[in-house]
Amino acid sequence: MCGIIGYVGYDQATPLLLDGLKKLEYRGYDSAGIAVYDGNLIKIVKAKGRLKSLCDKLSAISLEGHLGIGHTRWATHGKPSEKNSHPIASASKNFAVVHNGIIENYLCLKENLIKKGINFESETDSEVVAQLLDLYYDGDVLNTVIKVINIIEGSYALGIICKNEPETLVAVKKSSPLIVGVGKNENFIASDATAIVSRTKNIIRLKDEEIAIVNKDNIKFYDKNKNLISKDVFHIDWDVSVAEKSGYEHFMLKEIMEQPKAIMDTIKPRIKDGKIFFDGISLSKEKLGNINKICILACGSAYHVGYVAKYIFEKMLRKTVEIDVASEFRYMNPIVDKNTMVIAISQSGETADTLAAIREAKKLGAQALSIVNVVGSSIANESDSVIYTWAGPEIAVATTKAYSTQLSVIYMLAIYMADKLSKVSYEQYNSYIKDLMKIPSEIEKILSGHNLIKTLAKKFYNCKNVFFIGRNTDYAVSLEGSLKLKEISYIHSEAYPAGELKHGTISLIEDGTLVVALATNDLLYEKMISNIKEVKARGATVLTLTSQKHKDIESVSDFNIYVPDISDIMVPSLSVVPLQLFSYYIAYFKNCDIDKPRNLAKSVTVE
Ligand code: AGP
Repeated sequence: MCGIIGYVGYDQATPLLLDGLKKLEYRGYDSAGIAVYDGNLIKIVKAKGRLKSLCDKLSAISLEGHLGIGHTRWATHGKPSEKNSHPIASASKNFAVVHNGIIENYLCLKENLIKKGINFESETDSEVVAQLLDLYYDGDVLNTVIKVINIIEGSYALGIICKNEPETLVAVKKSSPLIVGVGKNENFIASDATAIVSRTKNIIRLKDEEIAIVNKDNIKFYDKNKNLISKDVFHIDWDVSVAEKSGYEHFMLKEIMEQPKAIMDTIKPRIKDGKIFFDGISLSKEKLGNINKICILACGSAYHVGYVAKYIFEKMLRKTVEIDVASEFRYMNPIVDKNTMVIAISQSGETADTLAAIREAKKLGAQALSIVNVVGSSIANESDSVIYTWAGPEIAVATTKAYSTQLSVIYMLAIYMADKLSKVSYEQYNSYIKDLMKIPSEIEKILSGHNLIKTLAKKFYNCKNVFFIGRNTDYAVSLEGSLKLKEISYIHSEAYPAGELKHGTISLIEDGTLVVALATNDLLYEKMISNIKEVKARGATVLTLTSQKHKDIESVSDFNIYVPDISDIMVPSLSVVPLQLFSYYIAYFKNCDIDKPRNLAKSVTVE
């Protein structure tokens, strides 16, 4: 996600802003910029790419002043470019703004502002804030900011400077983090403490819709009704490296814990008045009616999302779904034509095999839709349409929040297409939407029980072989559970369709072999009980993962994890979370390099 830094004080702003942005690089970004008031104007310098590009630009000019804001951008709306990077100036150049979050109603706001004759420079949602500040400025920046935050919807952390108020830095947030740093004759704002901890360890956390008016030697806080509010100062004792992970020991655990917010950020802006819609995508009934096959292409965990999608799409759409590992697809002379809908899934949007597979499919006449987490990435750019996950940058090599947000897009796509094909009733549609919106809070419940899973992991971290078994979507989730364990703990593991084990692999089960059995599918629950008995009879230790309503499973197993009840197509979003935590804690007890496992890269951009 984006990084924000702001400064007002006795010192020169530019070096402090750059130092703060350097400390925020870990959040992932694709462009950066700073704005400084030089005593006359607000000067803005920004650059696409790494901070070095920005520093190179700044080395050629002098940007002097004691008030400024800076930003590292993780693109969500508008591809990575200098034009779309922040800070963003208002048309009058009276305001400069940096923003982290998603302004959900930016399209209608932008249309109204354009009708008023305001020219927009960028493709971003953030620019509407800068233009609204211009429109409503009445000489009092606090009044203006209050008017604007009453108009915009969605998530935001905003840093604002105004040419007419050259001693003042303004900060306001909703759902996205923002803090105020209290210094001596200088004060700061920042996305998190990492950016400013070298200058001050005294911070004040803003709550939603609280406005901070920050001057170099005093800070005032207001609520939306312009009431002054008092705030506590916290003294932080983190060292910088820990601060980057917001106090978590590993990025992977941080990103597991971020899943509720990442999923909500991905689904909420796409549900309006109870209906799902996708920006820039319109799959008509006719167009979908002509599709005779859906072909899902991906690698690794993204492939496992595709496997869940196969079961869901075939169940809801009654269309043939093929799921192919991209590295195989590209060389198998695939049977694809203009009536094939190709869906590529990729976190990085740069996986070479997936990119090549899309090119192959398009060569054969297929339309390609991609589900990607990185705006403007190669796979996104080469697809005919793209649905972005808004998980924010994923730092840990082992994916978790990107997997989960991809899955949430799959659910929305399935419901959207089923509705277009008249395969779902009005009541079912509403029920699915209700359950979809429930996923983040249900995951929160699972995360709150993570110590139980840590205790289980402590029992099994010395295992040499682990089997994951399941049927239908439970099998698809087993694939992901097995990969998570392998890639971060280096323990050998296999995922198997539970009904297939007896056709050979069950010979490997011996006394004490750990078998993780997923049994959330009601229709196949009794079958799973039989499969559990089969492996138990051969000495296995069985850890089951099932829904709350199946407590009877305790009579045939050794250990049990339960997930909240939810509609069957959405259970995978819940059942994957305990498996992520199980793998994380096993690797933790094995002292593995969890965020950077051996031999692995975050994005495999080569064949
Ligand atoms: C998942 O934990 C792995 N890091 C890996 O399997 C990954 O999912 C795969 O390389 C695909 O990457 P992508 O989603 O960026 O295309």
